[in-house]
Amino acid sequence: MMSISIVPIGKNFAGEVSGVDLRGPLSPDIVAAIDSGMDEFAVLVFRDQDITDNQQLEFSQNFGPVESSIGGNISSLHSTRPDQRRLSVDMADVSNLDQDQNIYAREDRRRLFNLGNRLWHSDSSFRAVPAKYSLLSARSIPADGPNTEYADMRAAYDALDVKIKEEVEGLICEHSLMYSRGQLGFTEFTEEEQQTFAPVRQVLVRTHPVTMRKSLFLASHAGTIVGWPMAEARMFLRDLIEHATQPQFVYVHRWRSHDLVVWDNRQTMHRVRRFNETEYVRDVRRTTISSDGPTTTQVAN
Ligand code: OGA
Ligand code: MN
Repeated sequence: MMSISIVPIGKNFAGEVSGVDLRGPLSPDIVAAIDSGMDEFAVLVFRDQDITDNQQLEFSQNFGPVESSIGGNISSLHSTRPDQRRLSVDMADVSNLDQDQNIYAREDRRRLFNLGNRLWHSDSSFRAVPAKYSLLSARSIPADGPNTEYADMRAAYDALDVKIKEEVEGLICEHSLMYSRGQLGFTEFTEEEQQTFAPVRQVLVRTHPVTMRKSLFLASHAGTIVGWPMAEARMFLRDLIEHATQPQFVYVHRWRSHDLVVWDNRQTMHRVRRFNETEYVRDVRRTTISSDGPTTTQVAN
C-alpha cells in the first residue's frame, strides 16, 4: 500500500511528491491525489524515478490523451534519412541528441530550433488544442546541468493592476513556433514547415476548469493580438511576460538524474537555461497531455 504525500517546495507553487513508484500501475486514489496536487501546485517534482519510455507513457496516460509530438519540431534539411526520430512519436525529444545518440553539431538546424526552449513558453500553445500537462523525465543530466524555471501565471494574473485585468479580458492572441523562433533570428522555414506552423488562436486569459482560477496564457509563441497592430501587440505581450516572470512568481528547478517533473501548461510558463550543449549530453524526454479543446471555444479550459 503506497502512501502519497505532497509537500510545498520552499514558499513556492511547486510541490515534491513522495511515496509513489512510477514503474508500475497506480491505484485510482493515487492518480486522483496527483491530479488534485497538480490543480493546487501546478508543478510537481518526483525524485528518483528511474523509468523507461513505456513506464513514462503509461503513467502519463492516467491524465488524459497523450499528444503526438509531430509538428513540434523540424528536421535537418539535407538528410537523406526519412526518419530522424530518436524516440517514438509519443515523446518530445528535448535532448541534445540525434537519432544516432550523437550530440548535435553547433550549426545543426534542429539544435538551433530547440534553443527556443530557452524562451519563456507554455507547451504546445502553438497547437489548436494546447497542452494540459507536460511530464519531463531526466534520464541523464550533466554535472552542471541547466535549471528549468517555472512561472506561476495565476499569481501573475492576480498581481495585475485592475486596469490591465480589464484590458486583457477577452483578448485573443495568435501563436506559432515561427513567432518564437523569429525572436532568435531563426526565420528560414520550408513551405511544409510554414503550413505546419500556421498560427493558431488562444485566449489571453483563461480559467482553470477545476479551481476556476484565472491565469495569463502567455508564451513566446504569441506573436500578435487579433485586431491590434503587430508591433503594439508584441510590445504589450513582452511587458506582460516581463511582469509574469518576476522572481516572486518563479520556481527554479535544479535537476537530478531520474527526476520527473510534471507541470500544468494552463497555469504556468517555463524556460530552460543555457549550458554547454555541444559538449555534454542532456537526455530529457517529454510526454505531453492534451487539454480539453481549443481555448477560444470554451468557457473554462
Ligand atoms: C519542455 C521544455 C525544458 C527543459 O520539455 O517542454 O521546454 O528543461 N524543456 O529542457
Ligand atoms: Mn517546453
